[in-house]
Amino acid sequence: MLDLNRLPLSRKQLLSIGQATARINLWHGSVRSGKTVASLLAFVIAVATAGPSGLIIIVGRSLQTIERNVLEPLQDRALFGPLARHIVHTRGATTATILGRTVHLIGAADARAEGRLRGLTAQLAYVDEATLMPEAMWTQLLARLSVPGARLYATTNPDSPRHWLRTQYLDRLDEPDMDMRAWHFRLADNPSLSAKYIASLAAEYTGLWRRRMIDGLWVVAEGAIYAEWDEARHVVDTLPEMRRHFVGIDYGTTNPFSAVLLGIGTDDRLYACAEWRYDGRRTHRPMTDSQYSDAVRTWLADYRPPGAPDTAPRGVAPVWTFVDPSAKSFSTQLWQDGHPGVARADNTVADGIRSVASLLAADRLLVHSSCAGLLSELPAYSWDPKATARGEDAPVKADDHSCDALRYAVHSTAHEWRHLLTRAT
Ligand SMILES: Nc1ncnc2c1ncn2[C@@H]1O[C@H](COP(=O)(O)OP(=O)(O)OP(=O)(O)O)[C@@H](O)[C@H]1O
Ligand SMILES: [Mg+2]
Repeated sequence: MLDLNRLPLSRKQLLSIGQATARINLWHGSVRSGKTVASLLAFVIAVATAGPSGLIIIVGRSLQTIERNVLEPLQDRALFGPLARHIVHTRGATTATILGRTVHLIGAADARAEGRLRGLTAQLAYVDEATLMPEAMWTQLLARLSVPGARLYATTNPDSPRHWLRTQYLDRLDEPDMDMRAWHFRLADNPSLSAKYIASLAAEYTGLWRRRMIDGLWVVAEGAIYAEWDEARHVVDTLPEMRRHFVGIDYGTTNPFSAVLLGIGTDDRLYACAEWRYDGRRTHRPMTDSQYSDAVRTWLADYRPPGAPDTAPRGVAPVWTFVDPSAKSFSTQLWQDGHPGVARADNTVADGIRSVASLLAADRLLVHSSCAGLLSELPAYSWDPKATARGEDAPVKADDHSCDALRYAVHSTAHEWRHLLTRAT
């Protein structure tokens, strides 16, 4: 049923599919390196030959990521040929049918996920993005795979070397009772990638993420978060015309409050144009939400781009103002005061940091010299060694206010600038 003329597998893919007969089978390594295609083939072959007893389950971060990362590739005729027709799924349903067998879909982020796993008996499981699920859920899943000959197939990108999947499993491959095999994939293991595609992919990742996602290495997050940050390269005294403006706001009453005005320039670069900060602790005069709202709106109404003549009109109208999602009362205040385009900022920290880092690395994000808070925080913004020791990636929670405001504005508008990273300069 598989048309291998249409899907010429790499040696590494073939080898892994042939060897994937252990209790735990793990494909790890670089992005786009062919892990999903190889692991899905191994899984589908196992489904085709599965016995009658024990459930078949697919676990992912959410139902949506299972649909996008697992079911859609399986239904891709260009990849899986006639096999694709034997994968049946209605969007949103918590089961799918693969080769006539019912497969249960479980999103780890779903609060009921653990409960759905508890008590069931499984013979096959496929896990997408294994490092992103809680260790307790992985352990629970292994406990549920109780049918003789039961197997788990999983893929992941590398994370911290102190991550539980690495220390509790990958590092213990050689222990006799582990019954686990793993294959490390690099970009060269995907036969379909052109040199041009690989170059543009590499350009999207920098620093920590270059080493994890492109080189495929399990490395810790340590030291400066924006290692690319260089005042000589990234700080400017003049600004070009802007196509659109946005604002990112990190809210604080005892901690500093920071608002950053972000512009997308007609030169296809992003600019932190200006900043408004208030430190209620230093002044011993905390501001109310209403005072903050007045101050931010006045700051925007008075804004005049640096270098503009004194006669130039004042005022800037950001399309969206992305507010710290935990600052609900302040968002409501801004909205009640008639400020247009108030939105919740996207606060996925690691992804947001990655967005800022990629732009800095590509010289696509520059900071105006008036942004004093940002200029003092950016070079010192660093990974928290305590989180690193736990196998997690998290910034030190101090002097991160303008960094957060910038991250909110940048990451929440990713769809506006993503294409700029892959376009040649
Ligand atoms: N042998 C192959 N022949 C043709 N195309 C392939 C082959 N292997 C992988 N691809 C294609 O390359 C792309 C990346 O492959 P895949 O999704 O398996 O990578 P991955 O390692 O799972 O990546 P990620 O870490 O980003 O999830 C996909 O579009 C896939 O269809
Ligand atoms: Mg994948």
